[in-house]
Amino acid sequence: MHHPTLCTVAVALLSALPGTQAIYTKKSPVLQVEAKNYDRLIAKSNYTSIVEFYAPWCGHCKNLKPAYEKVAKNLEGLAKVAAVNCDDEANKPLCGSMGIQGFPTLKIVRPKKGGGKPVVQDYQGPRTASAMVDAVVQQINNLVVKVEDKSLDKFLSDKKESPKAILFTDKGTTSALLKSIAIDFADVITIGQARNKETRAVETFAIEKFPTLVLLPGGDAPAIVYDGDLKKEALVKFLSQAGSPNPDPPVKANGQKEKKAKNSNGNKASEKKTSSSKTSSAPTESETETSTQQAPVIVETALPIPAINSPEKLIKECLTEKSHTCVLAFVSSNEDEAAKKALASLSELAFKHAQSKRHLFPFYEVPRSNEGASALLKALDLSGDVEVIAINARRGWWRHYEGADFGHESVEAWIDAIRLSEGVKKKLPEGIVAISTEEATPAASSSVPTPDATEAESSEEATPVTPEAGAASDSTEPPATKGADPTGEPETAAEHDEL
Ligand SMILES: *[C@@H]1O[C@H](CO)[C@@H](O)[C@H](O)[C@H]1NC(C)=O
Repeated sequence: MHHPTLCTVAVALLSALPGTQAIYTKKSPVLQVEAKNYDRLIAKSNYTSIVEFYAPWCGHCKNLKPAYEKVAKNLEGLAKVAAVNCDDEANKPLCGSMGIQGFPTLKIVRPKKGGGKPVVQDYQGPRTASAMVDAVVQQINNLVVKVEDKSLDKFLSDKKESPKAILFTDKGTTSALLKSIAIDFADVITIGQARNKETRAVETFAIEKFPTLVLLPGGDAPAIVYDGDLKKEALVKFLSQAGSPNPDPPVKANGQKEKKAKNSNGNKASEKKTSSSKTSSAPTESETETSTQQAPVIVETALPIPAINSPEKLIKECLTEKSHTCVLAFVSSNEDEAAKKALASLSELAFKHAQSKRHLFPFYEVPRSNEGASALLKALDLSGDVEVIAINARRGWWRHYEGADFGHESVEAWIDAIRLSEGVKKKLPEGIVAISTEEATPAASSSVPTPDATEAESSEEATPVTPEAGAASDSTEPPATKGADPTGEPETAAEHDEL
């Protein structure tokens, strides 16, 4: 803030006025809850929520806003992120009964499995987006049934007529995304998860890759293997052919079973949708569309991978002390089979991430003819015809793709490991990162509001995690560059919307 004094005065004035402004606007991803709908939206939801109790005049509450909105975006579809204005007369009894004594107070509300009053806990961790996201994700109820070879028959024969779905995965843990899907379909479709090492289960359904989702519509209906994008909306749509997800918030019966397939967590968008379906008895257009459509087979397409043709560009994009993760594919000629395959795998991935508006570091093709390329490869001691690396100059690490064939899956697994910060990072040798490149990096310094030491924390929180601009718009730009987070934080926060 440039005028702290003025601002304080303005805040004081505002707070003296009746009906103080809510901190969150209508467009905010944060769900604004009032005493009159708190029960319906939060206490009776099957979703875990985080609720901020605030007062509009409180400075810490205002400071929390960017991070909290980031949390809401990050948890969209997974948990509810809500705020209650305790300055509003109508909400005072609620804030009192919740024992609110200072602002902001953050509480995590977790539904009891099987009903009853939810468990409410104060959140007292750091007020950074990633810490809040992680705390909420930990509290998401897990209704996913573990399916093992020894329990497979029982899983399949239990409630034989009712639909089930199994996610085959090579992961040992259950993702927040799958948990959220199990919550959507609680008592409608039993959701199971089987690991790749459960060979009998894997063979029973002839699973060849992981993750794969299989829907068993019930009775003797044949299994349907999902073949689309692994993001929430598409998955819910696919499963909806076997049963409608539970509307959240619940809709009062009006003769017709309500259906909805999107945004089932009840964050802003679906709240709007549900209230409109409450006032008019007909489902809204998008509801009709999603509930009548057949299982989508989303055709995967690709985004072009931009090329870096000069050493200057290479430095500017990826090698300054402020550069975030870049994935570089060094190719001698893009006619070469391996090069084609590597670039195709990266293009598909770029597309997939842009589609789900997910933050992803940019990918570049770097022709070997670029002098910068040969120098960098030499420094990293790489000599293959095609080399794919990830590099983060700001943090001084790099990783080498060591998969066999540059195939889609192996490249994706490698990229995922980077996103999740799994696996080994190598230290960048000295002299690779261009120091003090203020002038040389107009792009970096204009898109990033130069975080100096004192501002670093607030600027970190001020940046939206999901780059809206990242969607397949400008083909000369890599998909994630524009809205890329200058802090690198989303690499840890983004994992939750993965299966
Ligand atoms: C919550 O889950 C139960 C099944 O356990 C379901 O019947 C109910 O409709 C769900 N409620 C909401 C609000 O999703």
